[in-house]
Amino acid sequence: EDEAFLAAFQARIDAEDKIEPNDPMPEGYRKTLVRQIGQHAHSEIVGMLPEGNWITRAPSLRRKAALLAKVQDEGGHGLYLYSAAETLGVSREQMTEELLSGKAKYSSIFNYPTLTWADIGAIGWLVDGAAIMNQIPLCRCSYGPYARAMIRVCKEESFHQRQGYEIMMTLANGTAEQKDMAQDALDRWWWPSLMMFGPHDSDSQHGDRSMKWKIKRFTNDELRQKFVDATVPQGEFLGLTFPDPELKWNEERGHYDFGPIDWDEFWRVVKGGGTMNRERIAARRKAWDDGKWVREAALAHAEKRRARREA
Ligand code: ACO
Repeated sequence: EDEAFLAAFQARIDAEDKIEPNDPMPEGYRKTLVRQIGQHAHSEIVGMLPEGNWITRAPSLRRKAALLAKVQDEGGHGLYLYSAAETLGVSREQMTEELLSGKAKYSSIFNYPTLTWADIGAIGWLVDGAAIMNQIPLCRCSYGPYARAMIRVCKEESFHQRQGYEIMMTLANGTAEQKDMAQDALDRWWWPSLMMFGPHDSDSQHGDRSMKWKIKRFTNDELRQKFVDATVPQGEFLGLTFPDPELKWNEERGHYDFGPIDWDEFWRVVKGGGTMNRERIAARRKAWDDGKWVREAALAHAEKRRARREA
């Protein structure tokens, strides 16, 4: 790739042109997108598991219908994103194999267990809240198919966030035992939610290049701060407390200060050592193996139709 090509490409990015599948692009740009979109798709698919675990135990028909719809949305987002990644010349089989072999990552957050119904509230409020904070700017990502996919995804995510917050509100205004459940869920999900935004900017390997190419529009730390600023007043409104003694409004900065994140925990979970990593991958492997006959039958059917057409 010569310098003139890279400069011309950067000029398109700087002019806010959208890059489309058949446009020439630097290999690094393509690779970064395949990695990020693939990981994002895997996160949506694996993200169905912790909440799917509660569909049969939702406390009312209304809650069950909302949760079912939300989990189905996540499945839809995953398929949408796999399609967006496929426009870059990678196949879904390849991406799935990389997930199952542990080569491709998925969000750390989905390796934590969902212990009580309040976790469903906390996930909607915090995890989907963090996802929206990260994904709204991706609607302006320089790669057209990813940016367009994000528009619908974000609309659905905002419904997910609201259903979660409403569960939290109901619990926080319920009996003392229900309020305790809400507090316990906030205590367990708060720090992992902050970790979702990825390592500090100083340790973010891909950050600078992705910012330059306008794949990312904000850095990991910028988005994490925005999330904290938006979420703390919501927690206070619920009458709950955050598990961080250093969390406090900083008048001078116009932001909340917060305590140090446990990066050892983050990397342990990312590298497969979280409570649920094994079970998540085992569930995905089972789904992939159980679906093999469907994929084979669909291919055989397509092949038969093609042969008949040609005969
Ligand atoms: N969980 C697992 N891995 C992570 C996480 C996380 N929360 N955050 C960062 N990492 C990984 C990165 O993937 C990268 O590893 P890799 O080189 O093997 O791919 C490494 O840590 C270093 O991080 P960065 O250099 O900062 O990586 P990047 O620039 O890709 O930024 C981010 C990470 C912010 C997650 C980005 O990829 C992104 O915005 N992705 C799209 C959104 C997304 O995937 N959301 C999924 C969760 S939300 C949901 O599914 C509901």
